[in-house]
Amino acid sequence: MDLREIDQFAKDIIFEAGKRIRDAFSYDIKVETKADANDLVTNIDRETELFFIDKIKAFNPNHKILGEEGMGEGIESLDGSVWIIDPIDGTMNFVKQHRHFMITIGFFVDGIGKLGYILDVMREDLFYAIEGEGAWYNDSPLRRLNPLPLEEAVIGINASWIAPNRRVNHEKMIELVHKVRGTRSYGSAAMEIAFVVSGKLDAYISMRLSPWDIGGGTIIAKEVGAIATNLKGEPSSLLAQDTFIIANPSIHQEILKNYIEEK
Ligand code: IPD
Ligand code: CA
Ligand code: CA
Ligand code: CA
Repeated sequence: MDLREIDQFAKDIIFEAGKRIRDAFSYDIKVETKADANDLVTNIDRETELFFIDKIKAFNPNHKILGEEGMGEGIESLDGSVWIIDPIDGTMNFVKQHRHFMITIGFFVDGIGKLGYILDVMREDLFYAIEGEGAWYNDSPLRRLNPLPLEEAVIGINASWIAPNRRVNHEKMIELVHKVRGTRSYGSAAMEIAFVVSGKLDAYISMRLSPWDIGGGTIIAKEVGAIATNLKGEPSSLLAQDTFIIANPSIHQEILKNYIEEK
């Protein structure tokens, strides 16, 4: 398998998809809801996923695809060559803000992450990695993350997990918020992961993400030494929803041990 060839193909289609999404602002964007009134999806999410499926099937019909909008085949294992795709991560930002949304893609072979991509669609900024070769932000190599104390960390976290909730002890989360230098919430898991791997955030925590939110990002994480796990400290599932933390290696354990108490 020629990873370089697949990397070039992936970059070509992710930039082309980005352009199609930007162009879509001149047309009608139809917004619908899924599981609840705040769970948005648009025709552009679906069309973008279909675009990827058509391109990948033409590239290699044996490759399997797992995408958020379910336009690919449902997959039950990561055997073989598998693309995990979120056509728009941050659909609410796409609809409301017309910015701060990503396309993210992971390419796995027998469960091993080989190529990871996160494209900031409006800025045309690409974060990507090739397993064992490194990670890049556009043309610049991403450095391995420097250690820092938790007091100096800026962490990505959604306010829902600081308010009383069913998943995690929010009092402990409040302690974490007081301990760190600052918190941010961007509304796109892939964007927050891209920020951690490039040192713009030092951690990002979520009580519930799906494989397509994290697939590409976990591959980039490995190349810069960021630690990505679920909140039990194990690898997050790539086939089902799971909890998630990605952090600078100097603070990953400390956050998990002292501040995260799952219910
Ligand atoms: C969502 C975003 C959001 C995160 C949600 C995800 P979507 O993805 O990443 O930041 O908090 O859990 O579902 O639905 O916009 O692709
Ligand atoms: Ca969604
Ligand atoms: Ca997503
Ligand atoms: Ca999505």
